[in-house]
Amino acid sequence: MERVTQLGYLGLSVRDVDEWERFAADILGLQPNGRDEDGSLFLRMDEYHHRFTVHPDGGDDVAYLGWEVADEHACHALAEQLEAAGFEVSPGTAEEKAVRRVAGLIRFQDPNGIPSEVFYGPLMSFEKPFQSPRPISGFRTGELGLGHFVILVDNAEQSIHFYRDVLGMRISDYVHITPAPGVSFQATFFHCNPRHHTIAFIESPKIARRLNHFMLQVQSLDDVGSTYYLCQDREVPITMSLGRHTNDHMTSFYMQTPSGFAVEYGWGAREIDDATWQVQLHTSGSIWGHQRMQAGLAGVVQD
Ligand SMILES: [Fe+2]
Repeated sequence: MERVTQLGYLGLSVRDVDEWERFAADILGLQPNGRDEDGSLFLRMDEYHHRFTVHPDGGDDVAYLGWEVADEHACHALAEQLEAAGFEVSPGTAEEKAVRRVAGLIRFQDPNGIPSEVFYGPLMSFEKPFQSPRPISGFRTGELGLGHFVILVDNAEQSIHFYRDVLGMRISDYVHITPAPGVSFQATFFHCNPRHHTIAFIESPKIARRLNHFMLQVQSLDDVGSTYYLCQDREVPITMSLGRHTNDHMTSFYMQTPSGFAVEYGWGAREIDDATWQVQLHTSGSIWGHQRMQAGLAGVVQD
């Protein structure tokens, strides 16, 4: 079967693009790369023209997912897999390709109604190297894609089927947590390259927004530490303190974005070699830390 190779780009729908531009540049260290005609903001984190597009259409949620494949042949094969599984696929128009800055794409919706795209041939900007507005060492991307994200889904079984059997991703592990007696949830983690997980989802019947958080992985622990204290200085709400995750071993913390969902800022995750990897079940999300914080007050533990 044909498989997607990485999360190539992510579209966000927000209320305030100007606030997002300040947040992305001044806190996250992403590089603004101009606006499109409709006011959408492009954000760079590596040699890609952009990895994020921030659209001023007010949803404060994920707008669309961009799954990369190697070439036109792979994109065509993915379209056939989607159609064989009963999904409606639209070929990208010339205008859509131009807007996304890709050579080709197809469009469809995942089982939760999230607009999704498979594309090939992203516009690269090697002649103008990525330059973070902040003094950080940069982001771990390349074949690992832009990072990972966690979404709330209507039906976990349907989503597992779709991402595993239609898009060709592989299950990394499960985290089953019981935060209080009688309360439990399970997250399912998927990978499509050595990054431990590119997407994870939690079945949730009540949904304010789909996107729980996305993760950016930096090249050094100092970048995580300096950003943690920058958030405190600039009063960016830290929603989970520094900690290390049980499944991907990422050392990270979580901050609140202007849209309400979180960004995980992390370093040092382990990677998956499919030749030896064995699926695991974890009953704790973190080896240490990651305590939930009272919004805006880093250092004060809520529970
Ligand atoms: Fe995460």
